[in-house]
Amino acid sequence: MNPTIENMLQHVSVRNFTDQPVTTDQKNALIAAAQHGSSSEFVQAFSIIEITDPTLRNKLSDITISSPHVKKANTFYIFIADLHRQATILRNNQKKLDSIKNMEALLVATIDTTIAAQNMATAAESMGLGICYIGSLRNNIKQVASLLNLPDFTIPLFGMTIGVPATKNELKPRLPQTNQVATNSYDNQKFNDLAAYDKKVKDYYTNRKTNPSNTSWTDKNLAIFKEVHRPDVAEFLKAQGFSLS
Ligand SMILES: Cc1cc2nc3c(=O)[nH]c(=O)nc-3n(C[C@H](O)[C@H](O)[C@H](O)COP(=O)(O)O)c2cc1C
Repeated sequence: MNPTIENMLQHVSVRNFTDQPVTTDQKNALIAAAQHGSSSEFVQAFSIIEITDPTLRNKLSDITISSPHVKKANTFYIFIADLHRQATILRNNQKKLDSIKNMEALLVATIDTTIAAQNMATAAESMGLGICYIGSLRNNIKQVASLLNLPDFTIPLFGMTIGVPATKNELKPRLPQTNQVATNSYDNQKFNDLAAYDKKVKDYYTNRKTNPSNTSWTDKNLAIFKEVHRPDVAEFLKAQGFSLS
């Protein structure tokens, strides 16, 4: 095991930061790490917006389920899936926009953005910083886009808080590899045999120091997927120019 992998296996989302700043050198390194991820056909279909204005930070935080920690984190970046550059190139060359409106282009932008963010997360954790993704910005995706002056063909996918950890949660046990990894073919039987993992997760939630609960992974997923989340996202994507087809 090398130090990179050791760090990755110690990942926990951090929601409690000290007041210690993330330095400019650290921020530059984090952005560079994000920029150097792989990118589908080298389209680099993402942008990163750092939120430094306190009023704007408060407005954005209030949209999330994680408001107190988003307000307090030293650094807050928002990751934008971004095909607006491509739209501009096409428009400037009097070309049609069909190729960036479709679902495949939307997937490409989403994947590029996520790779960049995870590169940043790994880099941050390698420096001893803590991170937390903030997907709950999509609680009001339209308002986030408006607050950030986003043009068409852009999507505020998620935020990321970064800072020096004050406290850390216990590691969350991941699915056993037998439930998630197969050779040559999808293993429906093994992948859905979750009894052992449910027990492990229940032990974790029952015994953890913060917010203990008597919940298995299956229980958690039943609760998460009992209703449709954020049905307005599709309308937002259409308004941004995507055809969803
Ligand atoms: C795309 C994405 C969005 C997330 N959004 C939030 C969020 O809005 N608020 C929050 O507290 N955690 C958020 N998380 C963190 C997850 O809850 C966390 O990664 C998960 O529970 C696993 O825990 P761990 O990261 O500590 O291992 C998000 C994670 C991802 C990948």
